[in-house]
This record gives sequence, C-alpha cells and structure tokens, in this order.
Amino acid sequence: MTARILDGKAFAAKLRAQVADAVVGLTKRGRPAPGLAVVLVGDDAASQVYVRNKVKATEGAGMRSIEHRLPADTTQDALLQLVASLNDDPTVDGILVQLPLPRHLDSAPVIAAISPAKDVDGLTIENVGRLAAGLPGLVPCTPLGCMLLLDAALGDLAGKRALVIGRSALVGRPIAQLLTQANATVTVAHSKTRDLAGEARRAEILVAAIGQADFVRGDWIAPGATVIDVGINRIVENGTARLVGDVAYDEALPVAGAITPVPGGVGPMTIACLLANTVVAAHRRHG
Ligand code: GUN
Repeated sequence: MTARILDGKAFAAKLRAQVADAVVGLTKRGRPAPGLAVVLVGDDAASQVYVRNKVKATEGAGMRSIEHRLPADTTQDALLQLVASLNDDPTVDGILVQLPLPRHLDSAPVIAAISPAKDVDGLTIENVGRLAAGLPGLVPCTPLGCMLLLDAALGDLAGKRALVIGRSALVGRPIAQLLTQANATVTVAHSKTRDLAGEARRAEILVAAIGQADFVRGDWIAPGATVIDVGINRIVENGTARLVGDVAYDEALPVAGAITPVPGGVGPMTIACLLANTVVAAHRRHG
C-alpha cells in the first residue's frame, strides 16, 4: 500500500479561487476590496521570500496589499506607532507583522498592539482565548490549513485518536484546540514526552510540528494513519539544498494512509488561509 498524497498546492489553489470569488462578491455589493497590510522589519532572507509570496497571493485574489518594509534598526516605538496607524486605517482589514522580528525588538507587545478584529494571524491573546473558549475569532493560518486538509482526507474526525507533536503558540497549541473542537481525542506531545514513538503508533491522525528534519520515522506511524507534516526544514546534501518535513517521507509513504508532502502540502495552505482570514475580517468589519 502507498499513502494517498494530500496535494496542498492543488487544494490551496481551489481555496484561493474561492477567496477571489468572495472578493468579487464583496466589490459587486459596493464594498471595497479587502486590504491586507504586511509589515516586514529587517532583511531576513526567508521572511523576504514569505512576504513576497503573501503580497503576490493577495493581489492575485483581487485584494489590496499594503506593504510596509522597515529597516533592521527600526525602534520598538516606531513599530508600535505603525501598528496603531494600521489599526486606525479604515482601508486596512488585516494586519500581519512578519516574524521573527530582529533581535532588539520584542514581538509580544507588537502582537498585543494589533486590533483583534484585524489580527489575521490569530496571535493576539483575544483570538487565542476565543479559540480556547470555542468562540468565533480569527484562527492562525497554518492550523486552519491543516484542518482543511484533514477534512478533505477524512471528513468527520469525531472519535479519532490524534497526536500533535509540538506545542508552539503558532502551530501545535492551536491545532490541538481545533482537533478537540472537531471531537477528535487529542494528545499533545513535546520534548518531555516519554515513549513518543509509542504515542505516535496509537495515533490515527499524526500532526508533526517540531521543526526538525525527518524527526518522525516510518516505524512510528500506524498503518493507514493520516499524517500532516507541518515542518519546513532546509537541509544540504552533497552541496545541494532542499526542503524536507518533520516526517521521514520515504519511510512514511508505504505505511501511512494519507500524507502531506513537503514542499506542496501544508505550506501553500497557510497563505490561502491568510487570504481567507482577511476576507472574513473584512466581512465582519463591513458587514
Ligand atoms: N513567520 C513564519 N510564519 C509566520 C506566520 O504564519 N505569521 C507571521 N506573522 N510570521 C511568520
């Protein structure tokens, strides 16, 4: 048996087309096209690529992209002032401050300064709390993308045993919340977990969000399990760089029932969900 490959790229393209349709619907009703402000501080190479892709996708869906590129020596106060002005700007529906910030800046107060109604990353305490309480809010993009892929792969998740490896604020924790809301039976594993391989072997759904190349081995995976690989790790082999996930893909392929590839799995879903969140934020603001 070989696993069904969950094609995030194709799925994300469909979602982006749906977002573009929703934007057309909004503008036909006389509403402005939703605007997404992206703030990039400094010149981190990976962040520049991510931001470029976000801007391209935003414009591709017929939305307005408002880009703010600030120098690496930007002060905390200047960044907070920019966030405050974006909060007050009626043409901005979503605000994303690209992380990580340069080391001299403290990300927590910057995120806290974002209006929860415009927090399309779902990172403010208000939106984190809403998710934990099961209330509507804005949900972090990567976890949302994972849930859409799981829905496509499995449909109803009620009663399924799910293991989430990783408990980060951006990915592991919110995915665990969303799986719980979907009535899965959820275990969260982390660096202190005993017998991680044993935990993994019991999981019908395995979400790997660790950030270490090939961390989850093929013999950790239950036959037929659905594997969602959130990792994007750059490795260099024989002088050639390539991206790999947190799951040893070639080992997992003959065992799993379904698996997301890296690249082309969860990654493209993140940007598509960012666009979807921006439309949701615009809807809620303008009605
Ligand atoms: N850096 C890497 N991923 C993300 C993300 O989802 N949101 C933000 N703001 N920064 C990131």
